[in-house]
Amino acid sequence: MLAVAILAAGKGTRMCSDLPKVLHKLSGKTLLSRVIKSCIKLKPDKIFVIVGHKADEVKKSLNIDSTKDNIDFVKQEPQNGTGHAIQILSKRLNQFKGDLLVLNGDVPLIESDTLLNLLETHKSENADASLITTWMDNPHGYGRVFQTEKKIDNIIEEKDCTSDQRSNQLINAGIYCFSWISLSKVIDNIKSNNSQKELYLTDTIPLMNKVISYELINSNEIQGVNNRIDLSKCEQIIQNRIMNYHMSNGVTFINPSTCSVSEECEIGTDVVIEANSHIRGESKISNNCTIGPNTFIENSFIDKNSTIINSTILESKISENVSIGPYSHIRPNTQISSNCKIGNFVEVKNSFLDKGVKLNHLSYIGDSNIGKSTNIGAGTITANFDGFKKNQTLIGEHCRIGANTVFVAPVSILNSVTTAAGSVINKDVESNSLAIARSKQKNILNWKNKSSSE
Ligand code: UD1
Ligand code: MG
Repeated sequence: MLAVAILAAGKGTRMCSDLPKVLHKLSGKTLLSRVIKSCIKLKPDKIFVIVGHKADEVKKSLNIDSTKDNIDFVKQEPQNGTGHAIQILSKRLNQFKGDLLVLNGDVPLIESDTLLNLLETHKSENADASLITTWMDNPHGYGRVFQTEKKIDNIIEEKDCTSDQRSNQLINAGIYCFSWISLSKVIDNIKSNNSQKELYLTDTIPLMNKVISYELINSNEIQGVNNRIDLSKCEQIIQNRIMNYHMSNGVTFINPSTCSVSEECEIGTDVVIEANSHIRGESKISNNCTIGPNTFIENSFIDKNSTIINSTILESKISENVSIGPYSHIRPNTQISSNCKIGNFVEVKNSFLDKGVKLNHLSYIGDSNIGKSTNIGAGTITANFDGFKKNQTLIGEHCRIGANTVFVAPVSILNSVTTAAGSVINKDVESNSLAIARSKQKNILNWKNKSSSE
């Protein structure tokens, strides 16, 4: 039997934030959700999340259906330390005889395989407790681990260490596997006679017989988050992991330290990602695309051989051989077919552009459907909002839309239509027609410019 306890009740004072610490995000996901995910693969019988500070906010963030998920919340009020959190939990573990895996909710990068190894070591050694440790070049802020051979005698928090003890670089990661029978016998015996006047879970260690260390060589996984400097260290570790993965699979990053890529993102081979480009959410970039510089893509699909420069693309689908930018804004629910060209200062929203549409300069196209090979002149606008609702503009194939045309939606333009530059089109147009909707030019002869000095 395996139960998991995730400690997430603390305020996180050192974050200097209104948001509970475990709800801060790394690459789009909260610290707490990352820790929970790492435990799910272990298939525990129960996961207890200890909540306290802003408990409702923390619970809500997880969006858990407690009837289906085997995750339960335990309220710790007030928050008197990590040992106190387990004291509160102990009331829920009356008949429990298995192992209890305890994880700090602010150690977000721990991997499932490491946890599996910890559990295996704990079992094979028949220990009372086993905990993850590592040697850190800069152990500042962590509890120091004191051991004889591989048996741990004690853990002393940084603030309670003598300067001699502080020079010990073996640290406690905040991830423990306890035999619950052993821990339950001592959990109520800890005292708060320390610098923080709290009940420390680590104070149970000297009260048990066999406590062993599961030592990690790479400390990246157990980087804790106590402040925003730690948070950015974790983000860096995640980004390095993601980019190394993509670089090993045929993606070039021109200046990776200026870019970010989500864990869900898929990128094909021979894609070049230029500086200052960010790819978020469930995006997919196919082979031979060039992305950036200065491009933001979220939850979008970009098909092969497309180029996107200095642009933003949100929740949209871009087909192959498309060129976008510089300075284009493709808003949600847009579909751009192959061989289209979207140029400078063009915004497209909730629209379908068929193959080979050209939309090169200074336009707004919203709630529209544009047929293949149509050319939209510079400055063309779809006036889609009538003050109450959004209306559709339909433009057929092979149209030539003159510069500065305004389509007052709802309006339909059939195939092979030409509109004269500067026209305001508010009536439907038959195919093969020229639509002119502007006043005629009048020239007044012998006109003298008036100036204020006359
Ligand atoms: C803790 C460990 C330290 C270890 C470090 C690893 C103790 C006493 N110290 O220190 O040895 O090196 O983690 O990152 O355990 N929490 C509660 N209830 C409370 C207090 C805290 O649920 O009453 C939760 C917090 O929300 C947090 C976790 O426990 O997720 C750890 O608390 P934190 O205050 O960050 O402990 P550290 O000082 O990092
Ligand atoms: Mg901490």
